[in-house]
Amino acid sequence: MARTLIAPSILAADFSRLGEEVRAVEEAGADMIHIDVMDGHFVPNISIGPVVVKSIRKSTKLPFDVHLMIAPVDPYIQGFRDAGADIITVHPEAGPHVHRTLQAIRATGARAGVSLNPGTPAEAVDPIIDLADLILVMSVNPGFGGQSFIETALPKIEKLRKKIDATGRDIILEVDGGVNAKTAARVIAAGATALVAGTAVYGGDPIAYADNIAKLRTAA
Ligand code: DX5
Ligand code: ZN
Repeated sequence: MARTLIAPSILAADFSRLGEEVRAVEEAGADMIHIDVMDGHFVPNISIGPVVVKSIRKSTKLPFDVHLMIAPVDPYIQGFRDAGADIITVHPEAGPHVHRTLQAIRATGARAGVSLNPGTPAEAVDPIIDLADLILVMSVNPGFGGQSFIETALPKIEKLRKKIDATGRDIILEVDGGVNAKTAARVIAAGATALVAGTAVYGGDPIAYADNIAKLRTAA
């Protein structure tokens, strides 16, 4: 089985030293950088935009896994691609035409992701799975780091694993929210191939990042 991808979420990093924080997790063994973009409208929190993404692009060679929690989303896709996004993930609820949105992401040259909220069923991917390079299962309601893992994510991951296997394509199945050394093992057993972790990686001193990532890998 392929190695589990670990994607630290910079939402839990020290924003006053973001470049260093990104470099630190690359050195600590991360596979991609998860970037949470929030607009205070689609979710009840505001984080960062393309200017910040662009400025940290020079701090690491790791792929940028950009999770857009904004509505409308279509007007901002090219801007995030230009800022250095490698994967751009959107929520179906963020616009009227998710099929077109995924096409637009791929047209920029980025890989396209679709994210399912805890209240959104696995079946939401059925009409668009051919356009998805990544499926992101939210195991918390989006908006904040440090929340508890919602158990109903597990059967949803299992369902999505079957759907992905049926395509014969190597779609990344990523899980986001409350992922730590305890929940990681169950998430991977259910069929996930990538873990987003904010608090579980950036919690504590930078000296602990390598150990934090290793713990997630061992659990997985
Ligand atoms: C929540 C974000 C997550 C969040 C995860 O809306 O999408 O990526 O940063 O944080 P933890 O790992 O602390 O639950
Ligand atoms: Zn996220």
